[in-house]
Amino acid sequence: MLHFGKDCKGVIIDVFTAIHTYYEQKPQVMRDEAIRSFGIAPQTIILAANSLGYGACPMDRFDFEAVEKLIHLPDDYTVAMYVAMGKPVKDPWPRGGQLAMNEVVIRNHS
Ligand SMILES: Cc1cc2nc3c(=O)[nH]c(=O)nc-3n(C[C@H](O)[C@H](O)[C@H](O)COP(=O)(O)O)c2cc1C
Repeated sequence: MLHFGKDCKGVIIDVFTAIHTYYEQKPQVMRDEAIRSFGIAPQTIILAANSLGYGACPMDRFDFEAVEKLIHLPDDYTVAMYVAMGKPVKDPWPRGGQLAMNEVVIRNHS
């Protein structure tokens, strides 16, 4: 358990200030961070769905702006991808081969 003591509020405000300063006026840094975050979120949703017996797939071939309008998304939000989810009615097709570890991991590339 973390204990911040009576100065906890000051620590939290300092952290928010630091975060704000880091991203302020830097659209590329904001976008990079968003891409990292929304890459993790769908995978977590898909794994959670699978653990509950649902099938789930990421999807990004849709009209992003139309979806944002349809769901009345606030201006400071954006849609990153869909996760289609449901009860599987049949087994998935066989998976393609997995790439060899040395094709996707680079170790001490000097
Ligand atoms: C980032 C991402 C976006 C995808 N977008 C679509 C999509 O728009 N439409 C689609 O039919 N499949 C899309 N797919 C593929 C499906 O999610 C799914 O992987 C595919 O139907 C094959 O299923 P399998 O991976 O279980 O073999 C996407 C996959 C990824 C990783």
